[in-house]
Amino acid sequence: MSAQWSELSDAEQQLIETAKQSTYNSYAPYSHFYVGAALLKNGVVIPGCNQENAAFPSGLCAERSALFAAGAQYPDQPVLMLAIAVRNSKGEFLEEPASPCGPCRQVLIETETRFKHPVRILLYGTRHTYVMDGIKELMPLSFTQI
Ligand code: THU
Repeated sequence: MSAQWSELSDAEQQLIETAKQSTYNSYAPYSHFYVGAALLKNGVVIPGCNQENAAFPSGLCAERSALFAAGAQYPDQPVLMLAIAVRNSKGEFLEEPASPCGPCRQVLIETETRFKHPVRILLYGTRHTYVMDGIKELMPLSFTQI
Protein backbone atom coordinates (compact mmCIF):
# COMPACT_ATOMS: atom_id res chain seq x y z
CA MET A 1 0.00 0.00 0.00
CA SER A 2 1.28 3.44 -0.88
CA ALA A 3 0.85 6.20 1.71
CA GLN A 4 1.50 9.90 1.81
CA TRP A 5 3.42 11.33 4.77
CA SER A 6 0.29 12.79 6.38
CA GLU A 7 -1.40 9.39 6.32
CA LEU A 8 1.27 7.81 8.55
CA SER A 9 0.85 7.64 12.33
CA ASP A 10 3.16 9.58 14.66
CA ALA A 11 4.99 6.35 15.58
CA GLU A 12 5.47 5.52 11.89
CA GLN A 13 6.75 8.99 11.08
CA GLN A 14 9.17 8.86 14.02
CA LEU A 15 10.51 5.49 12.95
CA ILE A 16 11.06 6.77 9.41
CA GLU A 17 12.84 9.84 10.79
CA THR A 18 15.25 7.54 12.65
CA ALA A 19 15.79 5.46 9.50
CA LYS A 20 16.52 8.67 7.56
CA GLN A 21 18.92 9.82 10.28
CA SER A 22 20.64 6.42 10.22
CA THR A 23 21.60 6.90 6.57
CA TYR A 24 24.14 9.44 7.81
CA ASN A 25 25.91 6.67 9.77
CA SER A 26 26.03 4.36 6.77
CA TYR A 27 29.50 3.24 5.72
CA ALA A 28 29.15 2.87 1.96
CA PRO A 29 32.37 4.04 0.28
CA TYR A 30 31.94 1.50 -2.54
CA SER A 31 28.27 1.69 -3.54
CA HIS A 32 27.51 5.23 -2.32
CA PHE A 33 24.05 3.87 -1.57
CA TYR A 34 23.34 4.98 1.98
CA VAL A 35 20.69 2.79 3.58
CA GLY A 36 19.19 3.52 6.98
CA ALA A 37 16.88 1.29 8.98
CA ALA A 38 15.05 1.62 12.26
CA LEU A 39 13.02 -0.95 14.07
CA LEU A 40 10.61 -0.81 16.92
CA LYS A 41 10.87 -3.46 19.60
CA ASN A 42 10.07 -3.52 23.26
CA GLY A 43 9.17 0.18 23.20
CA VAL A 44 12.61 1.15 21.95
CA VAL A 45 13.84 2.15 18.51
CA ILE A 46 16.94 0.37 17.24
CA PRO A 47 18.79 1.93 14.31
CA GLY A 48 20.84 0.20 11.64
CA CYS A 49 22.66 1.12 8.45
CA ASN A 50 24.65 -0.65 5.77
CA GLN A 51 28.29 -1.34 6.51
CA GLU A 52 30.49 -2.14 3.54
CA ASN A 53 33.92 -3.71 3.31
CA ALA A 54 36.62 -3.95 0.64
CA ALA A 55 36.10 -7.73 0.77
CA PHE A 56 32.54 -7.28 -0.52
CA PRO A 57 30.64 -10.18 1.07
CA SER A 58 31.90 -9.10 4.48
CA GLY A 59 29.56 -6.09 4.63
CA LEU A 60 25.99 -6.07 5.85
CA CYS A 61 22.69 -4.45 4.86
CA ALA A 62 20.98 -1.85 7.01
CA GLU A 63 17.97 -4.07 7.71
CA ARG A 64 20.00 -6.98 9.00
CA SER A 65 22.31 -4.74 11.03
CA ALA A 66 19.22 -3.43 12.89
CA LEU A 67 17.53 -6.85 13.15
CA PHE A 68 20.63 -8.56 14.52
CA ALA A 69 21.40 -5.73 16.95
CA ALA A 70 17.81 -5.98 18.18
CA GLY A 71 18.11 -9.74 18.54
CA ALA A 72 21.30 -9.32 20.53
CA GLN A 73 19.79 -6.79 22.93
CA TYR A 74 16.19 -7.99 23.26
CA PRO A 75 16.13 -11.66 22.28
CA ASP A 76 12.64 -12.31 23.63
CA GLN A 77 10.75 -9.32 22.24
CA PRO A 78 8.95 -9.29 18.88
CA VAL A 79 9.93 -6.82 16.20
CA LEU A 80 6.83 -4.70 15.64
CA MET A 81 7.84 -2.37 12.85
CA LEU A 82 10.77 -1.68 10.52
CA ALA A 83 11.42 1.47 8.48
CA ILE A 84 13.94 1.86 5.66
CA ALA A 85 15.22 4.98 3.91
CA VAL A 86 17.98 5.46 1.33
CA ARG A 87 20.13 8.36 0.13
CA ASN A 88 21.88 8.18 -3.23
CA SER A 89 25.43 9.19 -4.21
CA LYS A 90 24.29 12.82 -4.43
CA GLY A 91 23.15 12.62 -0.83
CA GLU A 92 19.46 12.87 -1.75
CA PHE A 93 16.73 10.66 -0.37
CA LEU A 94 15.32 8.40 -3.08
CA GLU A 95 12.02 9.47 -4.59
CA GLU A 96 10.84 5.89 -4.96
CA PRO A 97 11.15 3.57 -1.95
CA ALA A 98 13.91 0.95 -1.98
CA SER A 99 12.92 -2.58 -1.13
CA PRO A 100 14.82 -5.08 1.05
CA CYS A 101 17.14 -7.54 -0.72
CA GLY A 102 16.44 -11.29 -0.75
CA PRO A 103 18.62 -12.24 2.24
CA CYS A 104 17.07 -9.44 4.35
CA ARG A 105 13.59 -10.69 3.40
CA GLN A 106 14.64 -14.17 4.49
CA VAL A 107 15.79 -12.84 7.86
CA LEU A 108 12.53 -10.89 8.22
CA ILE A 109 10.53 -14.06 7.52
CA GLU A 110 12.37 -15.87 10.28
CA THR A 111 11.96 -12.91 12.63
CA GLU A 112 8.19 -13.11 12.16
CA THR A 113 8.15 -16.90 12.54
CA ARG A 114 10.37 -16.79 15.61
CA PHE A 115 8.28 -14.24 17.47
CA LYS A 116 4.94 -15.26 15.93
CA HIS A 117 4.32 -11.61 15.11
CA PRO A 118 4.15 -9.81 11.75
CA VAL A 119 6.57 -6.95 11.16
CA ARG A 120 4.94 -3.80 9.79
CA ILE A 121 7.27 -2.54 7.07
CA LEU A 122 7.64 1.09 5.99
CA LEU A 123 9.66 1.73 2.82
CA TYR A 124 10.25 5.47 2.65
CA GLY A 125 10.51 7.51 -0.53
CA THR A 126 10.08 11.26 -0.92
CA ARG A 127 7.16 10.69 -3.31
CA HIS A 128 5.40 8.12 -1.17
CA THR A 129 5.96 5.42 1.41
CA TYR A 130 5.06 1.77 0.92
CA VAL A 131 3.42 0.23 3.95
CA MET A 132 3.11 -3.52 4.43
CA ASP A 133 1.70 -5.58 7.24
CA GLY A 134 4.25 -8.34 7.16
CA ILE A 135 7.11 -9.54 4.98
CA LYS A 136 4.93 -12.22 3.38
CA GLU A 137 3.63 -9.56 0.99
CA LEU A 138 7.19 -9.22 -0.32
CA MET A 139 8.10 -12.88 -0.14
CA PRO A 140 5.33 -15.37 -0.75
CA LEU A 141 6.08 -19.12 -0.65
CA SER A 142 9.23 -18.50 1.34
CA PHE A 143 11.53 -21.10 2.81
CA THR A 144 10.96 -21.83 6.50
CA GLN A 145 12.22 -24.62 8.65
CA ILE A 146 11.02 -23.68 12.11
N1 THU B 1 21.69 -2.67 0.95
C1 THU B 1 21.00 -2.56 2.12
O1 THU B 1 21.50 -2.02 3.09
N2 THU B 1 19.77 -3.11 2.17
C2 THU B 1 19.16 -3.78 1.15
O2 THU B 1 18.08 -4.33 1.32
C3 THU B 1 19.78 -3.80 -0.17
C4 THU B 1 21.17 -3.30 -0.25
C5 THU B 1 23.04 -2.12 0.87
C6 THU B 1 24.12 -3.14 0.67
C7 THU B 1 25.21 -2.32 0.05
O3 THU B 1 25.94 -1.69 1.08
C8 THU B 1 24.46 -1.24 -0.70
O4 THU B 1 23.14 -1.24 -0.20
C9 THU B 1 24.43 -1.43 -2.20
O5 THU B 1 23.94 -2.67 -2.53
